[in-house]
Amino acid sequence: MSADDEFPLGWVRVCATSELLPGEIQVTWDGDTPIMVVNLDGELHALEDRCTHEDFELSAGPLDGDQIECTLHGARFDLRSGEALCAPAYAPVRKFPVRVADGAVWTRDDR
Ligand code: FES
Repeated sequence: MSADDEFPLGWVRVCATSELLPGEIQVTWDGDTPIMVVNLDGELHALEDRCTHEDFELSAGPLDGDQIECTLHGARFDLRSGEALCAPAYAPVRKFPVRVADGAVWTRDDR
């Protein structure tokens, strides 16, 4: 692990900021937690990369504005709040902090 991967302490490096352009998603892991970070027109949002219906990877789904659709059964989630917008998912997706430092995007599982 390089020094870049360790700073800031306790945060996980997702990617360089140049690798997460508007409309793009990057995925990383913090321990056992998959975290997807999405760029919504310059706003970065980090959410657990697990659909709350059956734990499928949400990042496989298409983005539609500020929403993402789970490709397995079609549940939709608000990327800003994590809120489930339609069945078959009812529980929100967990959100995580995200920040930019040293030209990179960082997140962490803060539970
Ligand atoms: S696993 Fe996502 S809608 Fe069923």
